[in-house]
Amino acid sequence: MNRKLTNVLVTGGAGFIGCNFIRYLLRQPDFTGRIVNVDKLTYAGSLDNVADVEREHGGRRYFFERADICDAERMRAMFAAYDIDTVVHFAAESHVDRSISGPAEFVQTNVFGTFSLLETARQKWQGREDVLFHHISTDEVYGSLGQSGSFTESTPYGPRSPYSASKAASDHFVMAYFHTYGLPVTLSNCSNNYGPYQNPEKLIPLMITNMLSGKPLPVYGDGENEWENIRLVKTLCRIVAELTGERPERYERLITFVEDRLGHDRRYAIDCSKTKRELHWERQGAFEGGLRRTAEWYMRLAGHGRSAKP
Ligand SMILES: NC(=O)c1ccc[n+]([C@@H]2O[C@H](COP(=O)([O-])OP(=O)(O)OC[C@H]3O[C@@H](n4cnc5c(N)ncnc54)[C@H](O)[C@@H]3O)[C@@H](O)[C@H]2O)c1
Repeated sequence: MNRKLTNVLVTGGAGFIGCNFIRYLLRQPDFTGRIVNVDKLTYAGSLDNVADVEREHGGRRYFFERADICDAERMRAMFAAYDIDTVVHFAAESHVDRSISGPAEFVQTNVFGTFSLLETARQKWQGREDVLFHHISTDEVYGSLGQSGSFTESTPYGPRSPYSASKAASDHFVMAYFHTYGLPVTLSNCSNNYGPYQNPEKLIPLMITNMLSGKPLPVYGDGENEWENIRLVKTLCRIVAELTGERPERYERLITFVEDRLGHDRRYAIDCSKTKRELHWERQGAFEGGLRRTAEWYMRLAGHGRSAKP
């Protein structure tokens, strides 16, 4: 894992995790290479998310290319133009609810798009070992847990939504390209992420932005999951209340239970001991501190100062 990253193709870098990753990578003192951000700019991607990166590094260490990862010809052209040696593949349709109402786009981008990138990498890299294809996946490919236990790297796949089925299919292609062609790949299956730049359709930013505008806070079913959604929403109500100088009840009154998502997984949890052991990863700070910083970020975005009233 100590290989040097030189010309890194980041897919989906105008989306939530991708844009945070680009900033993170550019901050690393030992990263001296270039990043090419390839993004189709769907409803989920925005150049605003990388405007500061463009200002600081654009044309030198950072390049943006608007393209669909399914367009194999464009992918091949980009690999050649930038001499790509590393792919960090975030681009995906990522919202479970949207996959229930319209699964076709999920198969297209998540399965076919990943295949198109893998095939490009295989053709362009031709057996090179100084290259890497890193695929970002989700713990949702493992399905739903009962009351106890956690997913490990060897948990059998059991996806239950069109989103997780499409991510599982893409994971299988990534592993097949390793086993069949020897393509150097890594694959990570993370749990829910949260933080700045997340699309407000996702739970945490949705709750914060709805609190600030006095809209209902929709919680699925009875709200019970690993960090029960209801506990999370009530914690957010308390944090936003502290930041706005209001009483938490003002926000708790907005909680509305809505009909459960079809095929809703009840509980996810991951055993991250391999990540700790092999990558020396450690969580920085407590969950609540992260929620507070996230709430502050969305409040700034919405033009709310520390003591602003919703
Ligand atoms: N957000 C989470 O909590 C979470 C958890 C586990 C795994 N993941 C995975 O992490 C990755 C990034 O998630 P995110 O939350 O940042 O997603 P996001 O929806 O915020 O961003 C996805 C980005 O991909 C781009 N994109 C979509 N289709 C494309 C296509 N065909 N070609 C090129 N670009 C395209 C979009 O424009 C957008 O910028 C995804 O693969 C997702 O499955 C996310």
